[in-house]
Amino acid sequence: MGELSGQVAVITGAGRGIGKGIALAFAEAGASVVCAARTKTEIDQTVVEIEEAGGKASACLVDVTEFDTAVSLFQQAHDTFGGVDIVIINAGVSDSKQSVEDSDPAEWTQVIQVNLIGAFNTAKAAIPHLKARGGGKMMLMGSGLGHKGIPTRSAYSSSKAGLWMLTRVLAQELAPHAISVNEIIPGPVRTEMTPGSDGEIRNTLGKGEWVKGPQDVVPLALFLASQPNHGPTAQSFSLMRRDG
Ligand SMILES: NC(=O)c1ccc[n+]([C@@H]2O[C@H](COP(=O)([O-])OP(=O)(O)OC[C@H]3O[C@@H](n4cnc5c(N)ncnc54)[C@H](OP(=O)(O)O)[C@@H]3O)[C@@H](O)[C@H]2O)c1
Repeated sequence: MGELSGQVAVITGAGRGIGKGIALAFAEAGASVVCAARTKTEIDQTVVEIEEAGGKASACLVDVTEFDTAVSLFQQAHDTFGGVDIVIINAGVSDSKQSVEDSDPAEWTQVIQVNLIGAFNTAKAAIPHLKARGGGKMMLMGSGLGHKGIPTRSAYSSSKAGLWMLTRVLAQELAPHAISVNEIIPGPVRTEMTPGSDGEIRNTLGKGEWVKGPQDVVPLALFLASQPNHGPTAQSFSLMRRDG
């Protein structure tokens, strides 16, 4: 029996990168995992890898910017696996690293749409299902840039600052329902979002930082998933080596 046996986890952005790493690990720990993103081939591949390893999973095409598809995601989790216990709000996009003066307004809006409004849509759609289960957990994938912005990252930093505020508000609203809500800050992770060598990633995201693989974020996600529902909430857990 794994430590997440009998639990159902819904993970947005589970087609690649950090979300996929957590999906594979949660399934190995015994959870049934619903993998969501917009690219069918990628979420299908995550499900294949989970099933080949003996786990249980299903794929759901979701664009988190559309509330209705987030609602369908949790309905699918309920219909397929009987409910929802853990929600990883992980889907996100980067920005094209321009000063505010040079930023494209349409791109700025899109980053907020995915990273912040998408997180709101996912959390809102999840709440009735977690309440029906009598409690549960949400984890939101934040960023050090949401706590300390840097030049040229206004869209991304602002979206993640909003995500951290959303985490704290959700935690207070949901504490009476035994639903804990916490932020994970992974620090720099080698994924499609961070092209380039480790040195180049460090230069952009912080000298002296630990550049990780997606599997290095797993232990923190597993730790939070295995805490009691009345355990830590409204907290930010960071894997960074320093502030900013
Ligand atoms: N990599 C880092 O250094 C780092 C550091 C701090 C925080 N983070 C955060 O960690 C999270 C995961 O990032 P990652 O590095 O793993 O990036 P990634 O490899 O690019 O994965 C992003 C995932 O989000 C999905 N996604 C993007 N837009 C979506 C939408 N509108 N609806 C549904 N799914 C969507 C993508 O799938 P589709 O494109 O197929 O939809 C993909 O599965 C993000 O929130 C990111 O901000 C990353």
